[in-house]
Amino acid sequence: MPHHLLVKGGTVVNDDRSFRADVHCEDGIIKQVGLDLAVPEGTEVVDATGKLVLPGGIDTHTHFQLPFMGTVSVDDFFIGTQAAVAGGTTMIMDFAIGMAGESPLAAVEKWRGWADEKVVCDYSLHCAITWWDESVARDMAVIAGEKGINSFKVFMAYKNVFQLPDDKIVHVLKHCKSIGAIMQVHAENGDIIDEQSRRMIDLGITGPEGHVMCRPEEVEAEATNRAIMLANQLNSPLYVVHVMSKSAADRISEARRRGCVVFGEPIAAGLGTTGHHCWHHDWRHAAAYVMGPPLRNDDSTPGYLMHMLANGDLQATGTDNCTFNADQKALGKDDFRKIPNGVNGVEDRMSIIWEKGVHAGILSPSQFVAATSSNAARIFNMYPRKGRIEAGSDADLVVWDAEASRTISAKTHHHAVDFNIFEGMTVHGVPLVTISRGKVVYAHGKLMTVKGAGRFIPRGAYSDFVYEKIRVRDRANLPVGVKREPYSGPVIKL
Ligand code: URP
Ligand code: ZN
Ligand code: ZN
Ligand code: ZN
Repeated sequence: MPHHLLVKGGTVVNDDRSFRADVHCEDGIIKQVGLDLAVPEGTEVVDATGKLVLPGGIDTHTHFQLPFMGTVSVDDFFIGTQAAVAGGTTMIMDFAIGMAGESPLAAVEKWRGWADEKVVCDYSLHCAITWWDESVARDMAVIAGEKGINSFKVFMAYKNVFQLPDDKIVHVLKHCKSIGAIMQVHAENGDIIDEQSRRMIDLGITGPEGHVMCRPEEVEAEATNRAIMLANQLNSPLYVVHVMSKSAADRISEARRRGCVVFGEPIAAGLGTTGHHCWHHDWRHAAAYVMGPPLRNDDSTPGYLMHMLANGDLQATGTDNCTFNADQKALGKDDFRKIPNGVNGVEDRMSIIWEKGVHAGILSPSQFVAATSSNAARIFNMYPRKGRIEAGSDADLVVWDAEASRTISAKTHHHAVDFNIFEGMTVHGVPLVTISRGKVVYAHGKLMTVKGAGRFIPRGAYSDFVYEKIRVRDRANLPVGVKREPYSGPVIKL
C-alpha cells in the first residue's frame, strides 16, 4: 500500500519564490505541488493553514559521536538526528575522520556503520584527509567514484593531529579536481596557534579566554586567504567550513568577486552568539563556548556574517554540532588546550537563522531557504532531490510558523549535551511539523522517529553548480606561450 501524505493550506517557499500550494507526497517523494490536488482516499493530511512550508533544513556540518581530543561527542547519530528533526532539519552532513595513517576509505565505512543503524533522517558524509600518500589518493578516487562522497575536508590547524602542510593540501586540491570533488578547508594557521597557545599558558592564562586570545581573526583570515590562493592557482573548487570572523568572510567575498570558485559556510553559533562567553566567571559556562575557529569576542560579527549570507557572499549554513558535557570539557580545567572543542547547533540552526536573519529584516524567506538547504544541495550535488519543493524531489518538508516564538533551553532541547549555547534566547520561527521522506517525524513538540529509518544519500562527482565554472575558467585561462623562432645566437660556455 503506497503511503500518501498531503500538506494542506500552506505557502510553499522555495529559494526563488513563494506561492500558495498544497504538497502531495507519495512514498517519500513529492508527487504534486499545487491547489485542488486530487489525492487518493485515506491520504494522511498535515494542516499547514496560514503557515509556511519549507524544504527541510540541510545541516552541512555535524560531528555526531566523534572521537576527539580524548573523548567522544555526546550527541550520537540517533540523538543528533532527533535534535535535527525537532528543529526542522531533515538532513545532516557529517565527517568521516580517520587519523593520520588510517585509510580514509576505512573511515568512511566505519562512519557508515555508526550512522546507518541510528539516523532518523537522511544523511551524507564528507571525508577528512589528514595525511597523504598514494594510497590516500586511490581511496579518494574510490570514495568519490563508488561511495557517493564528493567532498573532502583538510585541516590547516590541529598541529600534529590533523594539520596538513601546504604541499599536501596542493595534492588534495589537484586530486579533488581530477575526481570531480570539492575540497573543504578548516582555515586557521595551526603553527601560530601552537606557538601562541603555549604563550598564553606561560602567561598563566589557562582558562577558556586563552583559547580565543591565542587565535585572533588574522589567524583565520590568513589561512582562508592561503587556501583560496592555492585553490585558485589550481582552479580547483574550495569550500571554507565554519567561517567565524568578518575578515575571513571578507577574504571569501573578495575572492568570489575575482571569479574564484569558493564557497563559505557560517554556522549557527557564529550567527547567533559571540565569544564573550569565554570570559564568563563560571568556568563551566565559559568552556561550553570553546570551539575552533573561536567564536569572536565581538558583537558585530554575527550580523556581519548574516548580511554576507543575504548578499550571496557566503552560501550554506551548518552548525559544527560537536557537543561535550561539562565533565568532558573539564579535561581542560587547568589548560584550555585540553578542552574538547565543539558546541551545539543542529536543533536550533533554523530558528536562530530565522530570528537573526528573517525576523531581523536581513534575509527574505526565500533567502532563508537558500541559506538553510538549497545552496548546500547545489554545492554538494543533491539538488533538486534535496533543498527544493517540487514534483520528483524527496518529501523532506517543514511546516514553519513564522509568527510563533520559543525560548531555547538545555532543559527542553533534544540534545544529549547538558548545555545550550543559546540558553534563554527567544527566537521567532518555530518548526511545527517535520516530514522526512514523506513521514511525519516531529509534530507539535513530539518526536515520532524510527531509529535507522534515515538513509545515506549518495552524491555524485562533478556537481554542475561547482564544475561548470571550473570548466569555463580552465578553458579561458589556459596559459599560452609566445610563438617565436628558436634562438640561434651565441651562448656563453659554462
Ligand atoms: O571546534 C570544533 N570545530 N570542533 C569540531 C572539529 C572541527 O574542527 O570541525
Ligand atoms: Zn574544523
Ligand atoms: Zn567541524
Ligand atoms: Zn525576535
